[in-house]
Amino acid sequence: MNSNEIRQRFLDFFREKGHKIVPSSSLVPTDDSVLLTTAGMQQFKPYYLDEKSPHGNKVASIQKCFRTSDIDEVGNEKHLTFFEMLGNFSFKDEYFKKEAIEYAYEFITKEMGLEIDYVSVFEGDDLTPPDTESEEIWEKIKKENNENFEIKKFGREDNFWGPTGEEGPCGPTTEIYVNPAGDGAGALEIWNLVFNEYYKNKEGKYNKLDKPGVDTGMGLERLAMVVQKKNNIFETDLFEPIMKVVGNNRVVTDHLRASVFLIADGVVPSNVGRGYVLRRLIRRVVAKGFGNAIEKTVGIIVENYKDFYFELEQNKNKIFTELKKEEEIFNKTLEKGMREFKRGTDPFVLFTTYGFPIELTQELSKEKGAVVDIEKFNQQMQKHQELSRTASAGMFKGGLADESEETTKLHTAAHLLLAALRKILGDHVEQKGSNITIERLRFDFSHPEKLTDEQKKEIERLVNKQIKKDLSVTCEEMKPEEAKEKGALGVFEHKYGDIVTVYAIGAFSREICGGPHVKKTGKLGTFKIKKEEASSAGVRRIKAVLI
Ligand code: SER
Repeated sequence: MNSNEIRQRFLDFFREKGHKIVPSSSLVPTDDSVLLTTAGMQQFKPYYLDEKSPHGNKVASIQKCFRTSDIDEVGNEKHLTFFEMLGNFSFKDEYFKKEAIEYAYEFITKEMGLEIDYVSVFEGDDLTPPDTESEEIWEKIKKENNENFEIKKFGREDNFWGPTGEEGPCGPTTEIYVNPAGDGAGALEIWNLVFNEYYKNKEGKYNKLDKPGVDTGMGLERLAMVVQKKNNIFETDLFEPIMKVVGNNRVVTDHLRASVFLIADGVVPSNVGRGYVLRRLIRRVVAKGFGNAIEKTVGIIVENYKDFYFELEQNKNKIFTELKKEEEIFNKTLEKGMREFKRGTDPFVLFTTYGFPIELTQELSKEKGAVVDIEKFNQQMQKHQELSRTASAGMFKGGLADESEETTKLHTAAHLLLAALRKILGDHVEQKGSNITIERLRFDFSHPEKLTDEQKKEIERLVNKQIKKDLSVTCEEMKPEEAKEKGALGVFEHKYGDIVTVYAIGAFSREICGGPHVKKTGKLGTFKIKKEEASSAGVRRIKAVLI
């Protein structure tokens, strides 16, 4: 069975079990608690809580994932940076442990024809009790199917998952292990079933969720390895064609594939954040002498994956150009950096000014019998990254820099502002952009001329009037056509085709939007325009605050 068939069988299986198939989200996450998307559940995180899922409460996906934590293990038989995760999910107690375990058992043994080596369940600790329910379900399955695999009990380290980031849904897991073909590798964990029964808050407390959920994740590469009876993931059809070109270099194979997917999702090489992750991958490939394999491998990777990931073909030229560009820069950097290194330049300066990788400085220093003070370097870097993060004030959902209460209020104020602008200036006004930080709201809109003082006052008055009325902010889901009919403002492009969320503020404003918003406008205080200026041709910019 090749990997395309495995993907298809997985999706068909869960479709038949009533799941809606949702496309992979980008590697650049919507959930800002992580640098890159690391799990299938990430795009669904809000649906484990109050937010209604636009896809229904049973979904399945194949998610592009990237884990920097495994970067140093790449090269063994089972670890990667980029991988595809097959997952099925249940929100708001649509189904729970029994169904999830039964589905997994059926898929692994019947659909894939594999034998389970053993399964594991959570043994419990001071924080949360043992998962006896999962254990009983497995016992029953064993009895009914004449199986005799072991049910092992492990601790938090192995059998408790989440949350991603500081807070979020989390819970005990049950994991399925199978035996790969080769000898000596030992049983391989292939599927992780997470039962999100808790919400861990910022204070570290585990609160039981009213309605628990299911989040499962299975690595496609590992599944392909056992289904195709290979000794390691790199021998599967997912990698084989790339391996051939790069002389079976596993690290280079992983890094090239990962770079292609990162660039297709909009990441470009830089010295901070995601860009730095990408830069490291490409530079490692080049440092290992495979710069000249880039052209051929990009073609192969795009060809191999394009039927499932359209973004690869669409961005093929960009992927190639970015890789080549980085290769060139790095080659120049190496020359320059080497000169500076010989002069004894500080590692932090070498990195930030000359782009000379810290790993290389460490290696070269080692050759000379010296040790780099890595702690000092890391401290310097941390400071450096904080500064550049503030400078570029991150843009998240709805143009928000974070989702604290202040930014939520400003977000609701932005909706009032747009409605007010249209009432006072006319229907030609359209939103052209917005950016919200904790202190202020910045709002760009189409309008041909500078606002007069009187217009600004009127806008403020109209917004403040709606605040005083303490209007309710309500949220409704509907078909895009219906939203359009009801006069909702917003972009009518939609990813998954069928449902959009519309936020209404009394009868004053109606917009397609992902939230979040306050529940009542009375909370907002007083709206004040601080500045009105040109942003670009035909576009004006307002900066406003709530006081
Ligand atoms: N979130 C879990 C994991 O990443 C299961 O999908 O392993």
